[in-house]
Amino acid sequence: MDRDNFGSRFGVLVAMAGSAVGLGNLWRFPYLVGTNGGAAFIIIYLIFVFFLCLPIMYSEFIVGRRSQANVFGAFKILAPGSKWSVVGIIGVLASISILSFYCVVGGWTIDYMVKAMTFQFKADSQELSDMFTQTVTSNYEPLIYLLVFLALTGLIVIAGVKKGIEKYTKIMMPMLFVMVVIIAVRSLTLPHAEEGVAFLLKPDFSKVTSRTMLEALGQAFFSLSLGCGTIMTYGSYVSKQENIVKTSVFTSLADTVFAIIAGLAIMPAVFAFGISPEQGPGLVFVTLPHVFAQLPLGSIVAILFFFILFIAAITSSISLLEVAVAYIKEEFKISRALAVGISLAIVTVLGALCSLSQGVLADVKISGWNFFDFFDKISANIFMPIGGFLIVIFVGWRMSRADYIDEITSGGTLRFHKWILIGIRFLIKFVAPIVIGIIMLNGVL
Ligand code: TRP
Repeated sequence: MDRDNFGSRFGVLVAMAGSAVGLGNLWRFPYLVGTNGGAAFIIIYLIFVFFLCLPIMYSEFIVGRRSQANVFGAFKILAPGSKWSVVGIIGVLASISILSFYCVVGGWTIDYMVKAMTFQFKADSQELSDMFTQTVTSNYEPLIYLLVFLALTGLIVIAGVKKGIEKYTKIMMPMLFVMVVIIAVRSLTLPHAEEGVAFLLKPDFSKVTSRTMLEALGQAFFSLSLGCGTIMTYGSYVSKQENIVKTSVFTSLADTVFAIIAGLAIMPAVFAFGISPEQGPGLVFVTLPHVFAQLPLGSIVAILFFFILFIAAITSSISLLEVAVAYIKEEFKISRALAVGISLAIVTVLGALCSLSQGVLADVKISGWNFFDFFDKISANIFMPIGGFLIVIFVGWRMSRADYIDEITSGGTLRFHKWILIGIRFLIKFVAPIVIGIIMLNGVL
């Protein structure tokens, strides 16, 4: 069977960046940076990205591209007769769990885009806070927007890798970038903007503690979409000529640069109006509408901002959905459209539970968490680290050195300094598994 593939180098880059750049960049990174020592945090973050996260990304890429198969099939091809395909199952579970709560927020972004277009933001923070509570706790409204969000995600994925994912991310990612720069310029030219910039960038190493390290690592892991099989799946659609190292470095840098620009778009505006910064839904759905309501031409900025959130969320969601779709389509030998239908049916049910857990189902708890938090926690604390751990063990210890070199150098056509090849292999074999192992034990103990 002919497999769909990305059609161009640019297509691969924007699809990978689209997966990485998401809600995490917009609502968590700026706050984490600001409260954890500014530039000092960014430096630590970058060290983690380069020495720990990139080796995991190369490993996922290597498995995907070498096997040219879905996350489950990949291990059947590369390690026949072994139990390694369980890594693929973890990937599918991780991506379905993330998508289940991610699509709820995706729905909220469309809802708020509509609210912004109909000028519903008042300059009263209590009213805005009530509006948010009312929006997410009501029964039908969030469900309808959730369905719209999932339907749009499904339509793009049904169209295929080249004619769907690549085609749309090629348009959406450059747009996303331009829009966030526009808002950053607007925000940085406000009076008192410098306080926000100082909050974000002024280095303060005294704020760096061991907790900061954990926060930085967790954020880097989530933001780069590691351990969920997404990079493996996208990697399986990449041709043998592509440079795995370059593509991964580009993805990580694009993700980090976007997160910093997002911080410059958000924090100066928040400080210019003397509001204290927050993170998570509170920041984007309450604090920022408050800012927009007071800003000259704020309603236009509000529409732009929720459109940015929506695009960041949907380009991540299509990559999450594709993991399950590729798996179901190839392993059960059915059409792409049917595979999308089955995956979406599952995600719609789980997503609806997550959505209702903000309101009527708030008291239904699984080990102390409502549905929304449960899917968030099991993916971030269990599936993603275990998935990331097993994948570096596979590439570092189970795959031969020759196969590793063959993939990194694209069959010997790319030249790398001997020490770069040795260094990356060392990071994959020893550093990444040891550090992830310590973090996992830390979480368990
Ligand atoms: N990176 C995304 C963000 O920052 C979230 C995410 C985590 C993700 N794992 C993923 C996206 C896997 C796509 C695929 O918001």
